[in-house]
Amino acid sequence: MGRYEIKGGKPLNGTVTISGAKNAAVAILPAALLVNGCCRIENVPDISDVRILLAILEDMGVKIQRPDESTVILDNSGFTGKSPNEELVRKLRASYYLMGALLGRFGKAFVALPGGCNFASRPIDQHIKGFAALGADVVETEDYVSMTPGPNGLRGNRISLDVVSVGATVNIMIAATLLPGQTVIENAAKEPHIVDLANFLNTMGAHISGAGTDTVKIRGVDALRGGTYAIIPDQIEAGTYMAAAVATGGNVLIKNVIPKHMECITSKLAEMGAEVINYDDAIRIKRPGPLRHTTVKTHPYPGFPTDMQAQICVCMALASGVSRLTESVYETRFFGYCSELESMGADIQITGKTAIITGTDTLYGATVSAHDLRAGAALVIAGLAAEGTTWVKNIHYVERGYERIIEKLAALGATIRRVED
Ligand code: EPU
Repeated sequence: MGRYEIKGGKPLNGTVTISGAKNAAVAILPAALLVNGCCRIENVPDISDVRILLAILEDMGVKIQRPDESTVILDNSGFTGKSPNEELVRKLRASYYLMGALLGRFGKAFVALPGGCNFASRPIDQHIKGFAALGADVVETEDYVSMTPGPNGLRGNRISLDVVSVGATVNIMIAATLLPGQTVIENAAKEPHIVDLANFLNTMGAHISGAGTDTVKIRGVDALRGGTYAIIPDQIEAGTYMAAAVATGGNVLIKNVIPKHMECITSKLAEMGAEVINYDDAIRIKRPGPLRHTTVKTHPYPGFPTDMQAQICVCMALASGVSRLTESVYETRFFGYCSELESMGADIQITGKTAIITGTDTLYGATVSAHDLRAGAALVIAGLAAEGTTWVKNIHYVERGYERIIEKLAALGATIRRVED
């Protein structure tokens, strides 16, 4: 395992190009199992979550080619419905999408329960509720989920989610695509990657409408044909580089973004004193003066994303006055990084779902540990902004979701390197 060594205190300046969206890629790759034949997926991020997912698919008999580092060609002709490798499934969260894909394609599934970042209790009851509503007999144990067709077979149905869940929305969309009849998901998640998944499936011949609203309709089709699809840019990777530019007092052009997806993040950073210029597919962000305190509450899209909570917390720790940061999706997410930031000089009090952050002029380098992906990203930002040297441990979390982070930050002028333990 390695660690990052960061010599902080230098503003980030220059241009960074954002990779394909992690949370779209990890939904689209399993969804590709529904396709009869080959599909070519472009703008796939080269991150460890994607590499593990591809290893799972390869082990299941899918032929995979990577003509370049951001393109994946999947050929499902040799795929027989083999259950995914248990050990690999436990390495990432998104492996739960294999449940929907196997159910939809073969009418049955046997999949180990997923692993991934453990910053909170992450139940999958809404996924199970969806599969059951589609007619599956579901057996869930502590280790796996097993599904077979129920007495009336599998078919579309109306499902109202009890909580807005990205994972359940994706899994039900994937499972329902090839089932007879119409499925309606109410109280669906509206994240950009839900729309991206619908666009991918529709490109391959599915009939999905309403993605991006709270009601998604899936009219089942008999089969999906192959095709080519390019994944959207990563909203959270872009937000992370924006927060890093702001925290270090830099000036960065963020290329390959969809500015509309960034509005919830850019408006908060602008409120804190950043200058933001939107172009068609790029954003320039700079911090001309000191940062001001603000109030943020995380929400499902189009609200401020929980996956940006830790990164904006670093900006708040460096802003004048007292900021309030409230988490409404994963209550325990603060515990992954706040004490680490405190060891760098941040002043954070957590009361229930809210962190009260009293800003300071300076953070100081320290040895800190990432406890999940976004917590790790926040510690990298804090290290870039801090005086002195910071060592970030447990960087395998960061590498789950950030493609070539060292190279991208170094190109912006950061002094950062990966040191092997
Ligand atoms: N929930 C339930 N039951 C369920 C599913 C979710 O109660 O069956 C609750 C969760 O406990 C949570 C809320 O609903 O309080 C939202 O969870 P959601 O299902 O939306 O989260 P997820 O699908 O497990 C995805 C992303 C996360 C991101 C969340 C929220 C992927 C692979 N993961 O997780 O991304 O934080 O949505 O936007 O898409 C990350 O990228 O760092 C990351 C953790």
